[in-house]
Amino acid sequence: MTAARKNLMILICLASLLALGACTREITYTQVNESASSCFDCHSDQDTFLMEAQLEWTYSMHAIGANVAYAGGRSGCSECHSGAGFEAYLAGETAVPYATSIRCFSCHAPHTNEDFQLRVTEAQTLADGTVLDIGDGNLCLSCHKARRDVATEVVANAEGDFVIPSSHWGPHHGPQGDLLAGTNGYEFEGYTYRSAAPPAHLANGCISCHFAENSKADLGGHSFNMTNAAGAMNLNGCNLCHTDLTDFNYEGRVAEIDELGEELHALLVAEGTVDEDGHPIEDAVTTLEGKAATWNFLFWEEDRSHGVHNPDYAEDLLRASIAVMSGEK
Ligand code: HEC
Ligand code: HEC
Ligand code: HEC
Ligand code: HEC
Ligand code: HEC
Ligand code: HEC
Repeated sequence: MTAARKNLMILICLASLLALGACTREITYTQVNESASSCFDCHSDQDTFLMEAQLEWTYSMHAIGANVAYAGGRSGCSECHSGAGFEAYLAGETAVPYATSIRCFSCHAPHTNEDFQLRVTEAQTLADGTVLDIGDGNLCLSCHKARRDVATEVVANAEGDFVIPSSHWGPHHGPQGDLLAGTNGYEFEGYTYRSAAPPAHLANGCISCHFAENSKADLGGHSFNMTNAAGAMNLNGCNLCHTDLTDFNYEGRVAEIDELGEELHALLVAEGTVDEDGHPIEDAVTTLEGKAATWNFLFWEEDRSHGVHNPDYAEDLLRASIAVMSGEK
């Protein structure tokens, strides 16, 4: 910095300090401290539970935030892609804050509440208006839900053509809540859709499987990972109910659903709406059926549970789409 600019900066700082002193300041934060011992409930020489949570969290995508730099500071994205953005959104603020990882204080407010209660506990409304209440999983739902409603997306343009409007089209990458609820897929007429996840999967939703305790720091708990980098699976949640699973492929459902997904993928590559990597192709012109089946494929793909989040709904959407696209109807 040049000497002149430095002087200017100091002047600006002085001016803002004077300005601050002159106006009546609104108190936005008060902290009453009875004694330091309350801090030591959490921060002491003996307690290791915060360290444990923190270590697990470092293995989660919430900490790594592969897309935080790209989407964290953007309007319309930061409420889900930035911890600070989410906190601001919950507080009803509209300004776009800077991007941070999704951190301890995004899900808890320990310095306000003095405990680890979750910031979100109420039922959540999904993009298509469905209200889903899955207890502690409601926190996850506030971000892990589709951003778009099938009813307003699978429509013709002004010319009456069915076009894939962009390479980012679809429900958006985290439609886990929608699949769990069994809603927001395109339901072709004349087919049956078994729409509910097994009720036991809905009890605490996401938490019962993804938070299931595990002795490995990179599986379950605050890592929220079902599979770690070495390929080990967290089956501890599943086996509280299913008892003898050795992988996620219970009753062969996962393998079966994956096969259907691949079958539909091939049909859509032939239709020209989806590329080999499974991304939608911008400006591809198709039919109502083609656009609807593309939506269903992206919904299944972007959920990424291979159907576990709702095996019946995933299977029925894929089967109907395959039947329609292969002209079996
Ligand atoms: C209910 C548990 C809890 C209590 C009580 C608590 N803290 Fe914290 N504190 C946390 C958590 C969780 C973090 C984040 C730790 C992490 O990053 O792993 C934290 C982080 C901090 C940090 C690090 C700076 C930051 O913002 O990340 C400071 C400083 C701190 N606390 C001070 C205090 C003081 C002072 C008190 C008492 C007035 C207190 N805490 C009481 C849970 C608590
Ligand atoms: C503030 C929004 C937000 C909340 C709340 C939230 N997540 Fe996430 N989660 C995200 C985002 C965004 C990503 C992807 C991060 C990236 O790619 O940068 C993610 C990633 C994940 C991943 C990793 C996906 C992968 O690629 O491996 C899992 C698993 C996950 N979240 C589960 C949960 C669960 C379970 C909860 C509830 C306890 C939860 N999330 C709460 C926004 C959120
Ligand atoms: C309603 C919450 C929400 C909003 C709003 C949102 N996202 Fe996401 N996004 C997520 C979640 C959750 C994930 C992670 C899902 C997963 O890992 O399965 C994600 C994942 C992504 C990914 C990663 C895709 C991949 O294949 O790894 C990108 C890129 C992304 N979002 C970009 C954006 C952009 C850009 C915006 C704003 C235009 C945006 N998102 C708005 C919730 C949201
Ligand atoms: C994406 C959201 C999310 C983030 C980020 C997060 N937590 Fe949690 N935390 C949870 C959920 C969900 C639970 C389980 C609550 C329940 O269902 O009882 C939990 C529970 C806890 C508990 C209670 C004890 C336990 O393990 O069950 C502690 C302590 C805790 N979190 C600390 C932390 C700390 C420290 C961080 C930061 C390193 C952190 N959390 C980050 C969601 C989160
Ligand atoms: C019945 C157990 C179960 C429930 C309930 C559940 N999940 Fe999953 N989830 C899984 C399994 C199994 C996978 C696939 C993991 C794999 O193949 O590695 C998965 C995959 C994911 C992924 C993709 C990244 C990853 O870890 O592979 C995200 C993100 C995710 N789930 C979030 C959620 C959210 C958010 C909820 C609640 C709305 C939820 N899940 C509810 C079991 C569950
Ligand atoms: C809270 C209890 C509970 C948990 C946790 C749980 N399940 Fe389930 N699951 C059930 C119940 C109950 C059913 C319905 C009855 C049945 O098919 O066994 C079911 C059904 C299923 C189905 C459909 C089976 C079919 O053919 O209809 C699959 C697949 C499945 N679970 C996989 C998993 C996986 C993988 C996990 C762990 C990631 C898991 N579940 C965790 C209780 C649970």
